[in-house]
This record gives sequence, C-alpha cells and structure tokens, in this order.
Amino acid sequence: MSSRMIRSMQIAPSILTADFGHLATEVAAAEAGGANAIHLDVMDGRFVPNITFGPAVVAAVRAATRLPLDVHLMVERPERHIEAFAQAGATGITVHLEATRHLHRVVQRIVESGCRAGIALNPASPIECLREISPFVDLVLVMSVNPGYGGQKFIETSTSKLRRVRKLLDEFNPTCDLEVDGGVGPQNIGDVVRNGANVIVVGSAIYNGDRSVAENIALLRQAVARR
Ligand code: DX5
Ligand code: ZN
Repeated sequence: MSSRMIRSMQIAPSILTADFGHLATEVAAAEAGGANAIHLDVMDGRFVPNITFGPAVVAAVRAATRLPLDVHLMVERPERHIEAFAQAGATGITVHLEATRHLHRVVQRIVESGCRAGIALNPASPIECLREISPFVDLVLVMSVNPGYGGQKFIETSTSKLRRVRKLLDEFNPTCDLEVDGGVGPQNIGDVVRNGANVIVVGSAIYNGDRSVAENIALLRQAVARR
C-alpha cells in the first residue's frame, strides 16, 4: 500500500481573511466546524510585500483553540524567530527554503524547539531542492500561489508539482506530510488530494462572507468525497 493511501486529509483554515476583530470567535468556528488545524500566515514585508502578525497573535490563537497551530513563516532569515513562535504555542513551524542560507540548521532548531518542522517552496522553486533536506522534515508545503496575499488564483501547474513532490517524498521520507497552500476551494480540492496533498490550507474559501465557516468546511469535504 502506498503511504498516500493511509494518510488522512486534514483541512487547515488560514485565518488571513478572517475577522481579526473577532479572532477567537473565528478560530472557535473553525474548530467547531471540523477543521484539523489552524494555519497562521506570518509575513514580514520583506520576504513578501505584505505584513501580517507575529508571535503575540499566535499566542492569542493558542489560547482560543485546542487545534494544532500550523505556523507558516514568510519571513527573511526565519532562524531569528523560531524560539519566539515555539514559545507562543506553535505546533509546527514552516520556513521557506528561499529565505535562509542554512536550511538544515533552521530545521534542526525547529525540531529542538519541540515543534514539527516544515519547509515551503515558492511556485518557481524546483523540487530538486527538497532531495537532501526532506529526510529531516515532517512536512513539505507546496505554494500554489505566490505568497503574500489571500484570495489569489491557484497556479494550475501546482497540481503536477504536488504529484512529483509526493513521489520524491515516497522515496526519501514516506511519512512526511504534503501541504498545499493558495487558491484551493471546492472546485479543485479533489484534484490536489488526488495528486498527493494531505494537508490542505484554505483561506478565502472558508473565511468569506458567503457562508458560515462550518458550511464552507463541509462543502470542501463533500467535494473531496465526490471525486
Ligand atoms: C498566502 C498564504 C496562504 C493564503 C491562503 O501567502 O500563505 O495561506 O492566505 O489563502 P487562499 O486560500 O485565499 O488562497
Ligand atoms: Zn500560508
């Protein structure tokens, strides 16, 4: 049996498009609606154009839910901030391989801080960069939009990239999670799961004014079941 078949799908709502004035309520709605983790997008205005939040907001979310916190650092030189996010209550910390010169050392620091270690790739980054580091990580994140903003369009070539990364991981680290982030909704969640993603980050298709958080999560699960 391939490792993909025994790995269950996890939905990780990104709070980027949630109502920050009512963050605890928004996070509680995701937990009550069946989310498996909360995804937190940390942006520094340097690695990506946008600025979001830091460890204080992660700590506030930690106090609002029992779900795992999946912290996605879109920051230059993330090695400066690992301990702060671990202390704030991160369950997993993901760093971009484009953002540091010493990726292996950063991954070691994440593990030493007691967190699960993840590495993220921008859409243009080749999957070959994963080969040496993949045995040391718990999660690989394939960006399916250019990081920086919620609500962008899914880059279609990401589907085949997921399939190729899953194949590489099956060879070098079969138990590693494969996460996809950006532009995922009911229209394409079946495709990304079919191509090997098992941790699905969803922002604007969950936190939007159209339906409740629970209804949106249910729509995503139904779309996967229909595939
Ligand atoms: C983009 C972030 C994503 C994004 C997801 O830089 O890493 O987590 O907010 O939002 P949607 O699902 O709206 O693309
Ligand atoms: Zn993200």
